[in-house]
Amino acid sequence: MAGLMAGFGNFTHAVVRGIPASLAKEALRTDSLDVDLTGAQKEHEAYVSVLRHKLGLEVIELAADESLPDCVFVEDAAVVCGDTALITRPGAESRRKETEAMKRALKELDMNIVEMADENATLDGGDVLFTGREFFVGLSKRTNQRGAEILADAFKDYAVSTVPVLEGLHLKSFCSMGGPGLIIIGSSEPAQKALKIMQQMSDHRYDKLTVPDDHAANCIYMNLPNKGHVLLHCTPEEYPESAKVFEKLKDHMLIPVSNKEKVKVDGALTCCSILINKKAKI
Ligand code: GLY
Repeated sequence: MAGLMAGFGNFTHAVVRGIPASLAKEALRTDSLDVDLTGAQKEHEAYVSVLRHKLGLEVIELAADESLPDCVFVEDAAVVCGDTALITRPGAESRRKETEAMKRALKELDMNIVEMADENATLDGGDVLFTGREFFVGLSKRTNQRGAEILADAFKDYAVSTVPVLEGLHLKSFCSMGGPGLIIIGSSEPAQKALKIMQQMSDHRYDKLTVPDDHAANCIYMNLPNKGHVLLHCTPEEYPESAKVFEKLKDHMLIPVSNKEKVKVDGALTCCSILINKKAKI
């Protein structure tokens, strides 16, 4: 397998997208919660600023599209690994056109574009956990088996296993990577069951970091030159008990990032960017 784990978390570029006013009323959501649009926009600006100014990534910011209320959640529109970008076929029909601007942006970044053309396939990037060694793909309300098969075809160097998502929107609604070989996982029963399946599927022994709140388990890990291990995670205001767990990670630069408004429409930290390494191969 090519370059297993080498350069895991090393990113040079991020693709993000603005929040349209239509998000407040029309973005998809599991619970019918009201969103403070200005609050969501400020929260997103702060997120983008961390990527651009604090971490020094080159950020490509796509314009918000009022006809696509969920377009800020760019992660669902593509899966990027190494030089390959798989343009997805999002599970929600109202989100399918989000892929058009994403495809253009990734083409401009010289990625090898693979498209999910099969009309029987659906896949949201939020269901895709890349560990540096392999992919886990959540089979959820948004992602199906055919979507997972197409992902496996696109990234042939890596094993791909599927995991049922029994609750919540996506696989990464309750887990993410916290470092090479470290899975951050929520405490709920469905989250713990999913972790068990991932452990059974893999021939690697992953370490785990369990946090009390499922939503708080969605973090962004990077390994950046001059910064080392970096973890963007929930704020103590949102999830005080989970934030205490992150404070125990002494080797990581910890960056709390607020997600109070976007979570009301099922957005998590990873949802709001596509991270790319243009220098080294993953
Ligand atoms: N609001 C994010 C989604 O439902 O896809």
